[in-house]
Amino acid sequence: MNGAVRGVGLAVIAGVFVGGWLWVRGEPETNGTGAAHAATAGVKVKMWQSSQQCKSCHQKVWDEWYGSHHQIAYTNPEVRRLSEDFRIKDCQACHLPRQVALTGFGKRSLPRQTRPNEGVDCITCHLAADGTIMGKRDMPKAPCAPKANADFASVNMCASCHNQHQTTDQWRASKYAKEGKTCHDCHMGKFGHGFNAAHDTAMLRAAGELTVEFAAGELKMTLFNKGAGHNFPTEERHRALDIEYGFPDAKGEVATWQRAYRFRQPYRDEPGENTQLPAMAKKSVSAKVPEGAERAKVRLWYRLNPFAKNGDKASTLLEEKEISLR
Ligand code: HEC
Ligand code: HEC
Ligand code: HEC
Ligand code: HEC
Ligand code: HEC
Repeated sequence: MNGAVRGVGLAVIAGVFVGGWLWVRGEPETNGTGAAHAATAGVKVKMWQSSQQCKSCHQKVWDEWYGSHHQIAYTNPEVRRLSEDFRIKDCQACHLPRQVALTGFGKRSLPRQTRPNEGVDCITCHLAADGTIMGKRDMPKAPCAPKANADFASVNMCASCHNQHQTTDQWRASKYAKEGKTCHDCHMGKFGHGFNAAHDTAMLRAAGELTVEFAAGELKMTLFNKGAGHNFPTEERHRALDIEYGFPDAKGEVATWQRAYRFRQPYRDEPGENTQLPAMAKKSVSAKVPEGAERAKVRLWYRLNPFAKNGDKASTLLEEKEISLR
């Protein structure tokens, strides 16, 4: 906090405060303390307090972010329900967080009391401890004068909130970390600040590959985590991924689907081990084939919560395979 407060304080001495903009007069400052640093003669210096301030100049990024799970982190009905409308105070730290640079990259973020509709926002990620904007490179000529910051551009930034259930550690142990393929490469590549993931069917389909074989009289089903840079599923303990199989009748209908395997990290009070599938790992399960069955169908279901049934909105059918058993 110190840096920001001191920086702003100095600048205020040198200027007049007008509706969030600070008009600074006098000689350029060279002492490097935040807003004051950018206070060159006659230049107006912004105090960055809300994502609204970035909108008009960064409309495209704003549109990607707006409606994303970062933006809705505090208003998300699912989160409000489970946090009892944030009466469980612990939940606010990551869902309505202060700027990460203040608490420290990789350290658990702290809650804020402002901008409830902006959840995890431009300020959370881009505002440096000294009140300037962080980016991947220095751009002193841009109106917001972003400065390069290695932590900002790295996985350490995400770790502040995303290592609660070891997603960041899972990534660090994967081949992607060795290759230097980061969270950003997979989650910001196509949709930028939308950070698409488990609510996006295309992303979910990119994670797993299901193969089905008939071998030694048994039905063998294998899932390969070919595309998630961490466990599949990861993070939220709600998530579940099911392989189901069934034997169609003459009309092609399956009367009963049976679960062959569930990939999931159980709730803390739920018995069982973590069966999530690590990056690049394969898991095979086999099932007995009943007398007279001619074909088998196998499905891969993703569930946003473990109670969701086939056909619910929280369930997504990722793949369906059919093979002959002759
Ligand atoms: C008055 C317009 C204006 C405002 C307000 C503004 N920016 Fe910028 N910003 C720019 C321009 C122009 C660039 C340079 C873009 C370029 O040349 O590609 C830029 C560049 C950036 C970059 C670096 C882009 C890159 O390609 O590396 C980041 C990050 C950034 N802005 C973040 C923000 C954030 C966050 C806010 C709000 C807190 C903000 N900006 C507010 C105009 C603005
Ligand atoms: C350490 C940071 C952190 C804390 C504290 C935290 N969360 Fe989260 N939460 C996250 C992250 C990161 C995600 C996104 C990962 C994911 O979707 O699996 C998330 C996602 C969620 C989701 C899924 C939302 C959806 O639409 O799918 C729910 C629900 C949720 N959190 C509820 C809570 C509740 C309830 C609490 C308090 C008991 C809480 N969180 C505390 C970081 C946190
Ligand atoms: C969860 C953290 C996070 C949030 C929230 C966030 N950014 Fe970013 N932003 C990043 C990261 C990380 C990069 C660098 C991306 C990369 O590696 O290419 C970036 C890149 C940028 C860039 C340059 C590249 C581009 O896509 O044009 C701009 C401009 C930018 N952000 C503006 C914003 C604005 C405006 C907001 C709010 C509407 C915002 N960011 C919200 C983390 C974030
Ligand atoms: C200050 C905390 C915080 C930081 C920093 C942060 N996130 Fe998040 N992120 C969250 C929370 C909270 C959610 C879930 C919000 C919800 O669903 O309500 C989330 C959700 C996500 C999702 C899931 C979106 C979806 O639709 O399921 C992805 C992917 C993600 N973040 C990636 C990243 C990456 C990559 C970074 C680093 C560049 C990052 N986040 C930085 C808190 C954070
Ligand atoms: C090689 C690409 C790749 C990399 C690298 C990667 N991810 Fe993912 N991520 C995915 C895919 C694909 C999914 C969708 C499948 C799933 O939910 O596991 C996903 C899902 C997620 C989710 C959604 C979890 C949920 O249940 O809502 C979060 C959060 C997330 N990733 C965060 C991260 C973070 C943080 C990093 C960096 C430490 C990272 N990812 C690195 C590909 C990647």
